[in-house]
Amino acid sequence: MIPVFEPYIGEEEVEAVAAAVRRGEISGSFGRDIGAFEEEFAAFVGARHGVSVTSGTTALHLAVATLRLPPGSEILVSASTNIATALAAFHNDCVPVPVDSEEETWNLDLDLIEGLITERTRAIIPVHLFGHPVDMDRLVEIAERHDLVVIEDCAESHGATVRGRMTGALGDMGCFSFYANKIITTGEGGMVTTDDDELAERLRSLRNLAFGRPRFLHREAGFNFRMTGYQAAMGRVQLRKIDHIIEQKRRVAHTYNDLLADVPGVQTPAELDWARNVYWMYSITVGEQFPLSRDELMGSLRDAEIDSRTFFCPMNLQPFLREQQGFRDAPCPVAERLWETGLYLPCSITLSDDQIGQVVEQIRAPAPA
Ligand SMILES: Cc1ncc(COP(=O)(O)O)c(C=O)c1O
Repeated sequence: MIPVFEPYIGEEEVEAVAAAVRRGEISGSFGRDIGAFEEEFAAFVGARHGVSVTSGTTALHLAVATLRLPPGSEILVSASTNIATALAAFHNDCVPVPVDSEEETWNLDLDLIEGLITERTRAIIPVHLFGHPVDMDRLVEIAERHDLVVIEDCAESHGATVRGRMTGALGDMGCFSFYANKIITTGEGGMVTTDDDELAERLRSLRNLAFGRPRFLHREAGFNFRMTGYQAAMGRVQLRKIDHIIEQKRRVAHTYNDLLADVPGVQTPAELDWARNVYWMYSITVGEQFPLSRDELMGSLRDAEIDSRTFFCPMNLQPFLREQQGFRDAPCPVAERLWETGLYLPCSITLSDDQIGQVVEQIRAPAPA
């Protein structure tokens, strides 16, 4: 089976993790690697601060928690995303309001934002889906006009840029994931980046149980979202490889794009002229001109020992969100179509051009002669 994805981990990561364990830097916020990873990752993104956490999900949860929003506040989120984006609102007693996708990049449609804003809207979480950045210049301009906090969901976009500037440094906070299938990984793990000194301080405090003075007196409810020292040690090694990883992600994507260009009914990922796409997962949709449905194509790939995955189920269709008090049934026809027609193809960076050719051959197989 050609897997959808395999992490890119070498002996250097194993040695760095073992060394951190040997030094006893296993938990707490001490030790050399946590602070160093935070500084190095923030520098990579071009933000003043990095606050490491246990996952992308907790990065988003923590970022929203710092805002202390009144219960029932609305937070606009990309409709097509991992559930973690909406959970950040849900677990902070806020209502996630889905913004439908646009056809070309599959990111949230910026033209829809203003029509969804109410007097309860406080923040927006744009997702840089599959590694293509949102046009943050336009989004931030809209957010500023309506006094909305912008939290970028960068779980899939490490290294993606908008007019040369990195995602994660373009909103008030950026939330990254280091899950095994992300651009770089610490196994589980995440990071919040920000330029704002006060937000950074609140993020650090809430991540670590919100200790007060004296130490065990707590004035607010915090969380234990601390990353371990050995995860940070692994993250530092991974970060040194990130340019190579992105270069290879782009090679894989460009090879697929070339080979799929003339297949009727297949939409390949975009890269708009102001954007750098890091192609976290190589994703396509199959339209009416394609001879098979998405599910039939996935079956045909499986028969040829080629793994694939569907796109995300949009947030307007999630049963538990539909039951939340204050749920707003914003129509998301594009995100729904993506959920029905989209799939990711194998895209590990070690994939050879021959293997990519094999996948494309299987996609072409059912096409009429
Ligand atoms: C867009 C998006 N946001 C958030 C997350 C959550 O990250 P994690 O799995 O590290 O909790 C993921 C991925 O898993 C994601 O793809």
